[in-house]
Amino acid sequence: MALTADTDWRLSIGDWMRERLSPHRYQHVLGVAATARELAVRYGADPDKAELAGLLHDAAREWRPPQLLASAREWGLHVGYLEELAPMPSLHAPLGAEVARREFGVEDPEVLSAIAHHTLGAEDMTVLDKVLFLADGIEPGRGDADHLRDVRQASRTDLDRACRLSLDHTFTYLLRSGQVLHPRSVQARNWLICQEKARTTQAKDD
Ligand SMILES: [Fe+2]
Ligand SMILES: [Fe+2]
Repeated sequence: MALTADTDWRLSIGDWMRERLSPHRYQHVLGVAATARELAVRYGADPDKAELAGLLHDAAREWRPPQLLASAREWGLHVGYLEELAPMPSLHAPLGAEVARREFGVEDPEVLSAIAHHTLGAEDMTVLDKVLFLADGIEPGRGDADHLRDVRQASRTDLDRACRLSLDHTFTYLLRSGQVLHPRSVQARNWLICQEKARTTQAKDD
């Protein structure tokens, strides 16, 4: 899919998503696309790629667990015990990337990576990965809980810190509710903390 000004990719993807998602999720998708575009402008990622990834990121979010698992196996994605235990958080993001590729011909590796990592995060996330990850957590439809105020405030000046704060909140919720922590999210958080520490050390040395 070419992201030129004269293409109607926003409309065609928007229509496709509206037909398949609940109204609430569709509004979330629009909120993520707009927020991702703003963050991309702020942090130097490609705004069109960010908006495209935002529009497509939850393409598989409302699939039931049997469909998530069956499609993941059919399309060759990794399905381990954590994916079987919690198919939605583990699989809807990489499956969304597959839908983007198969349904809309998206081949841009940056866009596909951002979609695939928007839930769990990953080590070595690109700026576009982080932009979509953060947009998913802070778009206006998420409300105005206390922790969101902190993450949104950080999102204005420090992309890594904002992503880490968002993960902190997710981890707190998962631990309190007795749910598993996916190792990819743990790796993402560790990596973000290392990035923060490295920047602090460098700032002291300068
Ligand atoms: Fe999602
Ligand atoms: Fe989402």
